[in-house]
Amino acid sequence: MKRSSGKTAVRGEVRELSMLFEISEILRQSMDLHEVVGPVLEAMAKHMGMVRGTITLLNRQTGEILIEAAHGLSPSQRERGRYQLGEGVTGRVVATGRPAVVPRISEEPLFLDRTGARKGLSRDDISFICVPIKLGNKVIGALSADRLFSEEVSFEEDVRLLSIIASLIAQSVRLRQSAEEERQRLIEENIRLQEELRERFHPANIIGTAKVMQGVYDLIAQVAKSDATVLIEGESGTGKELVAHAIHYHSLRATKPFVRVHCAALPDTVIESELFGHEKGAFTGAIAQRKGRFELAQGGSIFLDEVGDLSASTQIKLLRVLQEREFERVGGRTPITVDVRVLSATNKDLRGLAEAGEFREDLFFRLNVVTLEIPPLREREGDVELLVRYFLSSFGGQGKRKTVTDRAMAVLKAYPWPGNVRELKHCLENAVIMSEGEEIDEGDLPRAFREACQEREKERSLAAMQEADEMDLDGALDEVERRMIVRALERTKGIQVDAAHLLKVTPRSLRYRMRKHGLQG
Ligand SMILES: Nc1ncnc2c1ncn2[C@@H]1O[C@H](COP(=O)(O)OP(=O)(O)O)[C@@H](O)[C@H]1O
Ligand SMILES: [Mg+2]
Repeated sequence: MKRSSGKTAVRGEVRELSMLFEISEILRQSMDLHEVVGPVLEAMAKHMGMVRGTITLLNRQTGEILIEAAHGLSPSQRERGRYQLGEGVTGRVVATGRPAVVPRISEEPLFLDRTGARKGLSRDDISFICVPIKLGNKVIGALSADRLFSEEVSFEEDVRLLSIIASLIAQSVRLRQSAEEERQRLIEENIRLQEELRERFHPANIIGTAKVMQGVYDLIAQVAKSDATVLIEGESGTGKELVAHAIHYHSLRATKPFVRVHCAALPDTVIESELFGHEKGAFTGAIAQRKGRFELAQGGSIFLDEVGDLSASTQIKLLRVLQEREFERVGGRTPITVDVRVLSATNKDLRGLAEAGEFREDLFFRLNVVTLEIPPLREREGDVELLVRYFLSSFGGQGKRKTVTDRAMAVLKAYPWPGNVRELKHCLENAVIMSEGEEIDEGDLPRAFREACQEREKERSLAAMQEADEMDLDGALDEVERRMIVRALERTKGIQVDAAHLLKVTPRSLRYRMRKHGLQG
């Protein structure tokens, strides 16, 4: 800027302001830095006569400083403009965070002219000004420009102006970054919502949103429409029968019968006639012809529950039905053909039994076209609470519906439920009867539960101790202390004198420790 007279100085200031205004307008127009820096540098050229304006940004991963945008450089010149941190004038500005001015680039050995843009120009006449672009106190790049050398140019003015522009650019980078973060957040949100949408395929009656159950629901949706033979595996009470139902009622056979056979409950001789029926006089007591369950399931699904308990001879007959879709009634000769989808369930390790020769391997493979494994309740995070509410609201009839206290819920959540959902359901049925008021409290739950919970609590604190003490002895001891105090207070129903006695400390010391752990309201 020439400062020859007051008048031109004012004119210069007006020009400067209108340039800054124009630049901030440009920066506002787009979130994409690549789109805006070109016009910004153009404005600098137009208003200030600064040529070869360049914006370089530091790549923090590689430590390289790359030209992000440039005005008056060809693409190949830009491509050559790579520096390392600390290298050249630009590199030094980025490294130190301080502006640099090279009045005559011909006299500055640091000036690398990597881009080669100034070849052929009389280098004597060119000044180079470079200022850092900072986000907070982090240098993220540099803004530089050439201008023709002139004795009358105030470099401080140029540095000041470039610094203002650099800070405008930095703000726009910051905006761009938060826009990018917002975009990421939206993407994540979208994924979550899609997951939630998937949860909507939720077979009726099957309560639970645990992640481990999603796979089960997905698979039900996937196999339902096919005629695939499905083996449902899971501990007792996990809902295998419920799942078999869901598959049938979401299948094309939904309007046809769903017939269950409990393979473990019937003696060998009975089960064959149950499955395949019998002719009149097939055995003593067979006074009339009787259709078996396969026939009754015609067009629908048959559910072989506890299929692992079938005897060897029934296994062979079942295998034949699966292979040929054909069988005879007990005591009969005429082959009967049925169109039945086979679903089966077991709480045994059927593969293991097959490998050990205790279950026919060929039958196992026929039954196990698709396996659906139902996780035990203790692995379904969050589902106990949902199931408790569901069951309590479903036990109608007894007048007002009961709720559980927080303490009781904590016990229910901590209990490992070896009998899974069935056990939970029975437990609540009992508790509803046992509890006198409207609420089910800890005391209305079986004693064994509370003990199991205390046991688990103990294991947890041990685990916490082991986990913590690798890093932090005091932290681990603190944690153990806190847990012991809580347990003692629970046992003594909050009576501090008794709790102190249990813990073998003075009441005063207990109070002190409680305060330390924020256990005093
Ligand atoms: N996810 C669930 N939501 C609601 N009720 C369930 C659920 N899982 C199991 N139940 C109920 O628990 C009991 C046992 O389920 P069931 O399907 O018979 O288990 P399994 O056949 O695996 O032993 C049934 O009363 C069933 O309705
Ligand atoms: Mg069952």
